[in-house]
Amino acid sequence: MSSPAERYAESRRRAAEAKTQLGAFRAAQAFDLDDFQIEACQHLEAGRAVLVAAPTGAGKTIVGEFAVHLGLVNDTKTFYTTPIKALSNQKYQELVEAHGSDRVGLLTGDTSINSEAQIVVMTTEVLRNMLYQDSDTLRHLGYVVMDEVHYLADRFRGAVWEEVIIHLPEHVQVVALSATVSNAEEFGAWLDTVRGETSVVVSEHRPVPLWQHMAVDHQLHDLFISEEDGEPGSLVNPELQRLAAHSEGVNSRRSGRYGSRGHSRGPNRGSQQGSARGGPDRGGRGNLRQENRSSPAGKRSGSGSRSGPGVSGVSGSAAGRPRLNRPKLIRALDREGLLPCIGFIFSRVGCEAAVEQCLNAGIVLTSREEAQEITSRVEQMGWDLPAEDLSILGFDSFREALINGVAAHHAGMLPPFKELVEQLYAEGLLKVVFATETLALGINMPARTVVLEKLDKFNGESHVDITPGEYTQLTGRAGRRVIDVEGHAVVVWQPGMDPRQVAGLASKRTYPLNSSFKPSYNMAVNLTAQFGRRRARTILESSFAQFQADRSVVGTARDVAKRESSLAGYEEAMACHLGDFREYAALRRRLGEAEKDQAKARHRQRRREIIRVLAALQPGDIIEVEGKRGFGESLVVHSAPEHDPRPGVITSDGKFRNVTAEDFGQPPEVVSSIRLPRKPQVKVPKVRRDLASAMRAALHERVPARNSAPATGFGFLDETAEEDSIEDLQAQLRRHPCHGCSEREDHARWAERAWKLQREIDQLKLKIDRRTGSIAKIFDRVCGVLHELGHMEAVDPELMPHVPPEDATELPAPPGLTSGSKISSDEWFAAEFAVTDRGQQLRRIYGERDLFTGLLMERGVLASLSAEELAAFVTVLVYQSKRDDEGAMPVMPTKRLGGAVRTGIEVHAELETLEKRHHLEPTAAPEMGLVLPMYAWAQGQSLRNALSDSSLAAGDFVRWTKQCIDTLDQLSKIPHTPAKLAARCHEAVSLIGRGVVAYSSVAYQNLEEPSDE
Ligand SMILES: Nc1ncnc2c1ncn2[C@@H]1O[C@H](COP(=O)(O)OP(=O)(O)OP(=O)(O)O)[C@@H](O)[C@H]1O
Ligand SMILES: [Mg+2]
Repeated sequence: MSSPAERYAESRRRAAEAKTQLGAFRAAQAFDLDDFQIEACQHLEAGRAVLVAAPTGAGKTIVGEFAVHLGLVNDTKTFYTTPIKALSNQKYQELVEAHGSDRVGLLTGDTSINSEAQIVVMTTEVLRNMLYQDSDTLRHLGYVVMDEVHYLADRFRGAVWEEVIIHLPEHVQVVALSATVSNAEEFGAWLDTVRGETSVVVSEHRPVPLWQHMAVDHQLHDLFISEEDGEPGSLVNPELQRLAAHSEGVNSRRSGRYGSRGHSRGPNRGSQQGSARGGPDRGGRGNLRQENRSSPAGKRSGSGSRSGPGVSGVSGSAAGRPRLNRPKLIRALDREGLLPCIGFIFSRVGCEAAVEQCLNAGIVLTSREEAQEITSRVEQMGWDLPAEDLSILGFDSFREALINGVAAHHAGMLPPFKELVEQLYAEGLLKVVFATETLALGINMPARTVVLEKLDKFNGESHVDITPGEYTQLTGRAGRRVIDVEGHAVVVWQPGMDPRQVAGLASKRTYPLNSSFKPSYNMAVNLTAQFGRRRARTILESSFAQFQADRSVVGTARDVAKRESSLAGYEEAMACHLGDFREYAALRRRLGEAEKDQAKARHRQRRREIIRVLAALQPGDIIEVEGKRGFGESLVVHSAPEHDPRPGVITSDGKFRNVTAEDFGQPPEVVSSIRLPRKPQVKVPKVRRDLASAMRAALHERVPARNSAPATGFGFLDETAEEDSIEDLQAQLRRHPCHGCSEREDHARWAERAWKLQREIDQLKLKIDRRTGSIAKIFDRVCGVLHELGHMEAVDPELMPHVPPEDATELPAPPGLTSGSKISSDEWFAAEFAVTDRGQQLRRIYGERDLFTGLLMERGVLASLSAEELAAFVTVLVYQSKRDDEGAMPVMPTKRLGGAVRTGIEVHAELETLEKRHHLEPTAAPEMGLVLPMYAWAQGQSLRNALSDSSLAAGDFVRWTKQCIDTLDQLSKIPHTPAKLAARCHEAVSLIGRGVVAYSSVAYQNLEEPSDE
């Protein structure tokens, strides 16, 4: 209850607000704004940049929409950038609905609509390219909304966000929208330095609370005990822990008896509307299938999962464990009213397999009306696609699963398939989607429930645990604002999984936003062309990457100072009145090291000797195998060479084994020998038994070893040199004055600590050294390569038009430096650079292999190719397979193409050498995996034919093809490109931009395609 005075103040406040833009904006919204939204909007209206960090679904978009509103009012442009095309499309639709299609434009990888509109939605790459090209479209730009700005941490694309933030004209107000990150303040502080006054608005509040569960044997259990107020708590459910521990042992006994106790909360959770569908009359289709098909054996679900502590890695998981029965779990979720759900499976094949599993199990989740609607939509799409490609695209099973309410969603899918899944899902027609983590990023597909089957994923090299941040991202999809009262995250329990470990991931921790910025060649020429090298350097020093490095340097410097003061204390404690204890301690350490070296040398010598003896063993020799495995007396049946000394033996109990040097502490001695058949059949048990008994007989009768038995025992060990020095050190030690001190050992302990600390300090100092100016250093190296290649040249700073006077005086020009001259490395750092005519073309080439592409253009490699060959060749510049499983070079369809590819490999090798010399990470090597499919595709063959010899998914092929189109487009636009080649580029684009590739695209823009996975 408020007092009259308070009511008056409130009404005054409202009256004041009504006059502001925020007031007008608020009045137009369907709901009232949350506090964090109001705060962020106020900052914006006051002319400040804002960073908003709030959980998934919190409503950050509102702030971006307010920027759009302000833009309209102030008659300036607003750009709304997103990392993903799908998200751009979504935002475009929304903004069109709000402001009309004539006021809104869209610029993405393959769409260009109304690009000069007052509001333009675009992918971040488009904006970056505009900035580098100083595009006219940038004029009158007032606001830039950067949605999902935490993409800045993305290893491959993150730099683009930083480039945009750094290069946007000063007057532009940036609205950065981010998932919750733990270092929002740090990020805000950086924005403040590069963008001017920036306010940080952080909200930790999830509008829809999230409940965490574990599914053990298809039964849901709360992960945490709920708090008294009914909110999710933070104490791990002890019942669940008991259950997991129990299940670990008793795999085969089914778990029904735990059923009802584990979860405390009733069915039909979280639904305001109840389960939307229902009806007992849902078709008979499922039944039919159930009769006709048997469930396939589990090829994937449990495999590759961790075999954690407590599970015998050898036998446990594979044998006794029933595999995850997805249909059963889905039925359980359905019963509890927890659909729709998104099941995250970190592999595309896994997603497809899961859908198939559901199909085979006869899962039907749609009502008859829903099924009809889906049928008509999917068939419409089928009509639009080239008929000959439908089968390779897996259209029939896609359609069938879709009608039952189940689908996969991953980047390997064809865009129209994926988009249809997104649309049907958004309309509530799909109930279960199996997705890769791509879906967790940005695409607005919230669910009531998110299921995680595993807590690790394959990152291309190995299986790694998902981080708390990723866990938050993935489970953040659960709980749809307005629709659900609460969201649910379900982790499927697996042997070896500790509920406490999951609880650690699920607690409210978030992850830090770390820069992944790295100067590229393209960036270097663009910056240098616009600002000159020295100013470019300063600009790069203002990157978030450098900001973070500098901050960490501050922290590290503090660590050094702390350690140095401790060190002073230690040194005091070790001070000895008899002499210099430092010196004495150093002697001791040298002695210790010498002794260790000697022991190591002995060990090595012994091992060499063992190997020599093992290699000299002959079939028929009898040796004693002690060691860890301790087979006892064993009969050698196979000898082995020195490079792989693992002779085969028969043990006295008739088993065949290979023994290795590890089985022996000493070189084995041949105690007896017998004659063997020439090729003993050791695979036959009886033969082995006979050999074992022959061995026992020989030992019993003390048959002597054959004459040629190798000499055993130690060879000559060259220890004298070390022993000399060890003795010498010992003597020095005894002679040292501190040796006689009564507190010697006490001092020595302090000295040991001091020494360790000193080492730490040295390492920290090295780290500081490396970080200081690290970005600028890489930039220098990049410029070094470009300079050597003639893409940049040293010039007189006075001639640089763009360098402001204060910068020009900062570093004196090296004497005698004139345009175009080569300079020594000393002069190099002070020199001003300009981009040469040759370098100019690089400004227009974006991509991982930018310089490589530029070099090939210069060599004229592409000029002689036909349009088909050109299309195929461009794949070499674009394609990167996920794994290093590139086989031999394929047989090229034409001689010319083969020649071009070979030149490509040579040029890359030269570039790599150069990069290594400049201490840069080499450019990704050319890959041939796409050459033949693209050539076939360019020749007009069907998708099936084009992909027949390749393991590439259709969706991937389409994605790469679009990137090739993009590159061809870039090349055609480079001013140096001969008109004939440019025409051929266009021709190639039309050859490959057809059929499924063209299906969802309107026009092609000069930009990189976001790589989803
Ligand atoms: N103050 C509010 N009251 C009620 N509903 C709101 C409010 N603000 C936003 N919403 C609704 O919440 C939903 C989620 O909002 P939004 O998409 O902006 O979330 P977000 O923070 O951008 O999440 P993400 O991290 O997934 O991008 C939308 O449907 C939006 O209309
Ligand atoms: Mg959002």
